[in-house]
Amino acid sequence: MSVLLLRGRTLSFRDIPQSHDDDASYLYEEDGAVAVEDGLIAANGSYEQVRAQFPEAEVVDHRPHLILPGFIDTHLHFPQGQVIGSFGTKLLDWLNTYTFVEEQKFADPAHCKRMATHFFDNLLRNGTTTAVAYCSVHKTSAEAFFAEAERRNLRMVGGKVMMDRNAPDALCDTPQSAYDDSKDLIARWHGKGRALYAISPRFAITSTPTQLEMAQALSAEHPECYLQTHLSENQAEIDLTLNLYQSARDYLDVYEMYDLLGDKSLFGHCLHLNGRERAAMAETGSVAVFCPTSNLFLGSGLFDEDGLRANGVRTAVATDIGGGTSYSMLKTLDEAYKVLQLRDQVLNPLKSFCMMTLGNARALQLEHQIGTLEKASEADLIVLNSHATAAMALRMETVSTLAEELFVLQTMADDRAIAGVYVAGRPSHPDVQGRDPG
Ligand code: GUN
Ligand code: ZN
Repeated sequence: MSVLLLRGRTLSFRDIPQSHDDDASYLYEEDGAVAVEDGLIAANGSYEQVRAQFPEAEVVDHRPHLILPGFIDTHLHFPQGQVIGSFGTKLLDWLNTYTFVEEQKFADPAHCKRMATHFFDNLLRNGTTTAVAYCSVHKTSAEAFFAEAERRNLRMVGGKVMMDRNAPDALCDTPQSAYDDSKDLIARWHGKGRALYAISPRFAITSTPTQLEMAQALSAEHPECYLQTHLSENQAEIDLTLNLYQSARDYLDVYEMYDLLGDKSLFGHCLHLNGRERAAMAETGSVAVFCPTSNLFLGSGLFDEDGLRANGVRTAVATDIGGGTSYSMLKTLDEAYKVLQLRDQVLNPLKSFCMMTLGNARALQLEHQIGTLEKASEADLIVLNSHATAAMALRMETVSTLAEELFVLQTMADDRAIAGVYVAGRPSHPDVQGRDPG
């Protein structure tokens, strides 16, 4: 089997950087290389070392660009590609006015197929090689999502949303159909190729107690699957939830009553948690997902990254398309930095790049498959150009450290900086003519 050797400035994290000069937290090679064989990373290190190990390998020279593990997005909505940038509302009105209208179109398999093509093109164009997605309520949307991900050999996590009230009839399943459809989708897709399933009760407002019992049954029967839902995003949402579940001590308690917390449970937003909720999240290893562009766009609130971590809560970061406004994890971390500025918290650029890669991989317990350049990891890699625009090139004239360069990328770059994408070792950027390693 032939080996492909990608040459460039390689960067990969070993641990969460504690400061902008925490040099022990990452591995960086100025003239580095990653060897790829059979879709996996066969070696990484200095070009000289890796070349000596694979003298016959074909070399693709990406210098002077950076080579990193592909970005990971831990929360976004497949059916919301045509919801992004919908004007003038906060969460509950936004859902009713725009989102639930668009999501109804996913009853049509042809629409699902077309949207799946655009969805994965947009992710790859932005350097995202793994994502955790909510599909619509329709089984057909999850089918289209997984089929297109399989066609591209992507490691993707997804699930059909379960929702049986407080939405248009056309978007409501029933407790039983949600159970049956999720069960079928898990059987068909979880562990098939690179696909993984997330049991996805949308949020407490759109699920009856009986449906949350079905989610509980599914997650007890399938501990190998993820569970994803929304939590404590907006005050009106919290008030309505507590009105619907009057015996709950707080919002998180609704999900606790149905045993939905755990170290494979991803809770989007988590903006207004009380001390008890934080402690319960920490104790169960549940993950709080920071969605900065969405939280700003919908005026939902400012995530407390340092506070949650100090409370022992695991965190991840995500775009939340289409409440979120960009597919780009770079733009997402740019906004995360600004949100944390408003909270007097400092997000250093090394930590940002770690969060998009190793950090999110750890949140998914996939750090041995994705998120690093370690040997035997899956070869999902991206190539970043810090001089992608004239403004970036000008700014780069004054940059002298790696941390500064990463901060310029985070602050100024977008999809134009993604100069190449490899999925399981194959060139996969939708717009860049790649060479096929065969
Ligand atoms: N809460 C329930 N559904 C959604 C959604 O689609 N987007 C966001 N941001 N919050 C939600
Ligand atoms: Zn969401």
